[in-house]
Amino acid sequence: MSFINRLFGRDREKDQYCVALDVGTEVVKALIFKLEQDKAVVTGVGRQRQKLGDMQAGAVTDIAGVVANCSRALGRAEEMAGVRPEQAIIGIAGELVKGTTTTVHYERLNPNAKIDLAELKNIIHKVQWKAFDRVRSQLAWETGYPEIDVKLVNAAIVDVRIDGYRVANPIGFQGKDVTVGIFNAFAPLVHLGALQTIAGELGLDIISIAAEPYAVARCMGTEEGSEFSAIFIDVGGGTTDIAVVRNGGVEGTKMFALGGRAMTKKLSSALNASFNKAEQIKIDYANGLLDDRSNKIIHEALIADCQVWLSGVELSLSEFSNIDFLPSRILLCGGGSALPEIREVLSGAGWIRKLPFTRRPQINFIQPEDVSNVVDKTKLLTSQQDITPMALVNLALDLAGEEELLPSILRKVIRLMQT
Ligand SMILES: Nc1ncnc2c1ncn2[C@@H]1O[C@H](COP(=O)(O)OP(=O)(O)OP(=O)(O)O)[C@@H](O)[C@H]1O
Ligand SMILES: [Mg+2]
Repeated sequence: MSFINRLFGRDREKDQYCVALDVGTEVVKALIFKLEQDKAVVTGVGRQRQKLGDMQAGAVTDIAGVVANCSRALGRAEEMAGVRPEQAIIGIAGELVKGTTTTVHYERLNPNAKIDLAELKNIIHKVQWKAFDRVRSQLAWETGYPEIDVKLVNAAIVDVRIDGYRVANPIGFQGKDVTVGIFNAFAPLVHLGALQTIAGELGLDIISIAAEPYAVARCMGTEEGSEFSAIFIDVGGGTTDIAVVRNGGVEGTKMFALGGRAMTKKLSSALNASFNKAEQIKIDYANGLLDDRSNKIIHEALIADCQVWLSGVELSLSEFSNIDFLPSRILLCGGGSALPEIREVLSGAGWIRKLPFTRRPQINFIQPEDVSNVVDKTKLLTSQQDITPMALVNLALDLAGEEELLPSILRKVIRLMQT
């Protein structure tokens, strides 16, 4: 059955529901949703905290432990929604998940002929294989994994130009040089395999696995269309994920292994308190519930580590070397972004000067309402921590809408690559 038919499930009621599973280092989140025309409606939410040994920097380290946590989160969401979905869209994140947009040139033998469907299929096919080979070998080199163990997670066409002229659908156009920008996200096989095993144990059919920063980068819809540019930063428990979007297309994604958990650990040693106690103190602090003296102590304990975190952001952004200037808008999400020091260090002027910003970036938090194609019937999606799973729901909506030509051709090529 095709993806769309499965998602809209013509035959059985429960087929219409799907779950978005965000297996975070700190918290597993499960959102049950249903597609209704051009919106996704969330009817069940479940969360479960993970144990310290279950995940490390976005990657699963104890499959059985994570399955148990997912099962609890899923159980809560199912109870609320009153349904048990069989299909899932799962997010993948972590240090070793990399995404990049590659631009590939294709020279047409006969520039006067109009591009038809057969030629377009051929172009996309060639271009994607070229992009795939290039990015995969780069990732293998960067991570030390053999090429064969680096797997494609998802891909999307970002930009198509014919002789420099940007087109949405190349069919019918003439011209010599076709340039296609394709985004590809890769992850090590062990990492991807662990998520597949978890889905299997939970009795879920995987509709799609998506790189989380890619999902986050797409979550705000396309109102501004090709004008939209921003830097998305998801500060989680174990990792920070960054996506750069320019002119409506995702340029690339980077991640580094530092997030809220490191801050809690720091606090735990500075205050000589247990991890759980320190976590509570940190959250009370961020929510403004402590007195001035405590605020000062905590601020002093955390600010240096937040500076280190900022260096991670700076380094990640500096790796976008093919970009002449960075978007002057930063959008934050993830539970860890609620720590006041995160915004404070980002607002400093020093690091900005070292990067190709044209002006000081505006810093904002993504709000659940900003994910405008996802309707929350539960009223439980209220914080930045909910954005990543909501972004996965939004991506499922995108995928279901992909009856368009380019994505559907690309999807066929991807399927070949993933086998
Ligand atoms: N109000 C708050 N103030 C400060 N920190 C918070 C707050 N709420 C949550 N956090 C922190 O956010 C982190 C968890 O965020 P989130 O659920 O986005 O991470 P995750 O998705 O589990 O991890 P990752 O994305 O790294 O795999 C924890 O470190 C937690 O301490
Ligand atoms: Mg996360």
